[in-house]
Amino acid sequence: MSKIRILPDALASQVAAGEVVERPAAVVRELVENSLDAGASHIEVHAQRGGMAMLKIVDDGSGMDREDAMLSLERHATSKIRTKDDLAAIMTFGFRGEAVPSIASVSRFRLATREKDALVGTEVEVNGGKLIEVRDHGGASGTTIEVRSLFFNVPARRKFLRTEPTEFSHVEQQVMLHAIANPHVAFTLTHNGNPVFHLPATRDLLERIRGLMGGELASRLLKVEQQTHHGVTISGYIGGPGMSRSNRQQQITYLNGRPIESTSISYGLREGYHTALMKGQYPVTFLFIQMDAHAYDVNVHPAKKEVRFHDGNSVRDAIARAISRTLETANKLPTGHVPRRVEAELAAETPPPALKLAPQVEMPPPPKQEVFRLPVTPASAPLKREFLPPEPPKAVSAPEPLPALKAPETTEEPKVPEFRIIGVLQKLYVLMESPEGLVMMDQHAAHERVNFEKFRRALESGGVPCQRLLMPITLQTTPRDSDLLKQNLPALGKLGIEIDAFGPNTFKVEAVPAFLKTDDPAAWLDGVIEELRSLSSKTSSLRLSEDAIATTACRASVKSNDVLSIPELQALLKDLFACEMPYCCPHGRPTLVQIGTAELERKFGRRAPT
Ligand SMILES: Nc1ncnc2c1ncn2[C@@H]1O[C@H](COP(=O)(O)OP(=O)(O)OP(=O)(O)O)[C@@H](O)[C@H]1O
Ligand SMILES: [Mg+2]
Repeated sequence: MSKIRILPDALASQVAAGEVVERPAAVVRELVENSLDAGASHIEVHAQRGGMAMLKIVDDGSGMDREDAMLSLERHATSKIRTKDDLAAIMTFGFRGEAVPSIASVSRFRLATREKDALVGTEVEVNGGKLIEVRDHGGASGTTIEVRSLFFNVPARRKFLRTEPTEFSHVEQQVMLHAIANPHVAFTLTHNGNPVFHLPATRDLLERIRGLMGGELASRLLKVEQQTHHGVTISGYIGGPGMSRSNRQQQITYLNGRPIESTSISYGLREGYHTALMKGQYPVTFLFIQMDAHAYDVNVHPAKKEVRFHDGNSVRDAIARAISRTLETANKLPTGHVPRRVEAELAAETPPPALKLAPQVEMPPPPKQEVFRLPVTPASAPLKREFLPPEPPKAVSAPEPLPALKAPETTEEPKVPEFRIIGVLQKLYVLMESPEGLVMMDQHAAHERVNFEKFRRALESGGVPCQRLLMPITLQTTPRDSDLLKQNLPALGKLGIEIDAFGPNTFKVEAVPAFLKTDDPAAWLDGVIEELRSLSSKTSSLRLSEDAIATTACRASVKSNDVLSIPELQALLKDLFACEMPYCCPHGRPTLVQIGTAELERKFGRRAPT
């Protein structure tokens, strides 16, 4: 007897539902996408008990007539695609005709819908995939879908649900994703009857982001000017150098309006941020990618979270370029800031007043006295960035510039704050007094940044000077490392490492970078190879060399326990502020941290907490 059986429809739907609907947030995703496809201008999402007890999505979109309302409950019934060609260039969120029947098969489901001009609408009730009742509906035009007792008939699924707060946080994230991509649509979200947010329609993406994420975060974002490379158009907002998170929740990217994740995109972001992002941290992005819908396939993931690009490299490249351009432009008008971890360490109820720093100004040789002056934009300057959270806004009363300061090329006189070196803590943290309060510099991180940029400049102008080794080093490698080294010989040569293949899996190293301070060049080289190995799988060869520079620079930087004299520290400070990106080391860690006077006063009880 045959063992293969065709599944009854209801069971087939439940199986399909397992792929489409894994938790309440997935129901929200599917229904909100349907509302957007229906042209809604206001979407409400109401959840009870994290969405497990009830989810209700109300829209004012096109609505459906009775025939369509009934058809929408059938599997493979869709109004959105008709032919194979449509599938090759999907411009709507939906295309499978799976979502509604899947959801209805695993819940107590009610659909009420009315087209704008119809006198009467339709209400349909379905229980675990079984049609219970169809009746007239006299409510507002648009569509309301209510999903109660999700997975009541699939206990195996129910077991995978987490706590109410966890499920709700996924629901919220889902609504947020679509709300950001559609500022022109008003969104309302409630939980257990309490409002979570109400976002009025707006034309301004940043206003929408502010409405969801708060003004503090929004004020620290950099605008990515719309730009196109290889047919891939990028725009949106991103966090500046040093603004990072320990998870991907705020690494938000859209492809033609659809929130998606993709390794090409992640690599592009990482490559674009390059040294402005700490290892193991993720950037904050609200990035929109527009491209021809023929150039990728969305039909590869049951929840449509991932896509397959025909040419992932172009996408990665376009993103990397857009990000690095944005960071470069922003860096000329510096606004670095301290990553969360540091913010937490400072435990500031209110962030300390910001020290405002100007675009790079050519500095004179370090003055002999202990007072060190840094260029600052006047508080009224239209373009400025802060390296600490920018609240509360406070004018910087900058002292007069030193007479020795060379006039900058701009017409504006630079105003300079004073950094007085107080001492060094744990042979690592340089404590300084500024007009704003206490500034701390991580001398190791600062050196890394200085060396990194020195190295990169040398590279750009033809190569890093090298020092010949008295005794050439012979390196034995595995065949894999040997390939890796061979591919990167030119880049290594430019980096000041003179290395040649010398028989199978053997290399001879004749010279290392001139500035390298190490007693054991062989161990240092091992480290570089290790770095190449870990990077080779992730980044393009162009970046491979740059990343190697970053780490190389690090390894060659002063050790944290090197004791530096005051003039050496002053020179370091000067070099740091001559850098393009002074506020973080090549790994994205902060180089400078400030505790403002107000914050100190609060800590010592001289000022009431605000
Ligand atoms: N809120 C809504 N307003 C108007 N029509 C809707 C709404 N929700 C669903 N529909 C109609 O019901 C059909 C079926 O919806 P369903 O979500 O099951 O499939 P889909 O969106 O076409 O594809 P997918 O399974 O990929 O989401 C849609 O094609 C659409 O015509
Ligand atoms: Mg759909």
